[in-house]
Amino acid sequence: MSSSSTDQPTPAEYLPVLFGFAINQIGGVTSRLGIPDALAASALTADELATATGAHAGFLLRLLRAATTAGLLAVDAQGRFSLTVLGGMYRSDSPVQAAPLDAMHAAPAVWQAWGALEESVRTGKPAFNLVHGKGLFDHLGGDPELAGRFHAAMGAGSAVQLPAITRGFDFTGFGHVIDVGGGNGTHLAAILAANPALRGTVFDTADGVLEAPGVLKDAGVADRCEITAGSFFDSVPAGADGYLLKNILHDWDDASSKKILDNIRSGLARNGRVVVFSSVLSEGRQNEDPLEALGAAIFDIEMMVVTTGRERTLTEFEQLFAASGLRLTKVTPLPCPFLYYALEAVAA
Ligand SMILES: C[S@@+](CC[C@H](N)C(=O)[O-])C[C@H]1O[C@@H](n2cnc3c(N)ncnc32)[C@H](O)[C@@H]1O
Repeated sequence: MSSSSTDQPTPAEYLPVLFGFAINQIGGVTSRLGIPDALAASALTADELATATGAHAGFLLRLLRAATTAGLLAVDAQGRFSLTVLGGMYRSDSPVQAAPLDAMHAAPAVWQAWGALEESVRTGKPAFNLVHGKGLFDHLGGDPELAGRFHAAMGAGSAVQLPAITRGFDFTGFGHVIDVGGGNGTHLAAILAANPALRGTVFDTADGVLEAPGVLKDAGVADRCEITAGSFFDSVPAGADGYLLKNILHDWDDASSKKILDNIRSGLARNGRVVVFSSVLSEGRQNEDPLEALGAAIFDIEMMVVTTGRERTLTEFEQLFAASGLRLTKVTPLPCPFLYYALEAVAA
């Protein structure tokens, strides 16, 4: 981004950098008080909203003014607040689903971890582990409330990514695909529903696949889909011609990711392909939207804060594939925010 002719940064440049955290909290607290849903039916005054939410009237008015200045709300001459298009993404029925994402990031355990980013960068240790003494996934086992927020946030991400994958990626060349780390089967169910000749296998941990039978049955694809439980660090079912990894490798460092890819490579059918669906960090490619690139970069720091994983550049993906005897052959941009791609690799 360019600076003004005086070489001083403009407010548009420095405000998000200095005060992005505050704007996030203004939107998040407005959302958690239930204001977007309260305004869904009609515009309301600050006093009406205070009654509806039980919040302190004077402080709420100040929050509403700030949210209006930030572009989330509009206010009319009678002092009635309404949602803007931007604020509407916090409604619980919004297709963009900002609310579950915000609920996860603003949860105290995650918010505290972001506070340890400096120590994380100094030491090379994940901030979440530094603050809580264990990793996110171990922590989730003992924190059902955060686990609920986490799964809702993952679902919100998938609600945007799944249509982009089923519309933007061509599955016609595959006979049998295995969704590695496929969770409850939502992703594979959508792919199988859109590709009636395709067969599939959901592969995840025993806990991860617990809900898969119901999801596959409800989607009407259970007769074309198996469910296999196991750890991708031990082995991955062999013989499929497509191995899908959606939002998996970014959970893991390079050594662990190589182990997953090694296990896939050893069972890959002749002419088989590995397809990684992932955000890809910008390397300054032409025609790249800087805000999309910023979104991917923020994901990378988020992975640094809450996991031992990372986002990667295309070059880093090529190196990761090569280390497991795979060769990146095709890169398909998908119609989805934050530089989301399908990366196809074959045996080298
Ligand atoms: C970030 S989620 C992604 C889920 C799904 N692919 C999606 O995009 O919505 C990571 C998945 O990896 C699974 N997973 C974690 N460790 C695993 C392991 N050792 N073996 C198999 N799956 C594992 C988790 O259960 C979870 O379903």
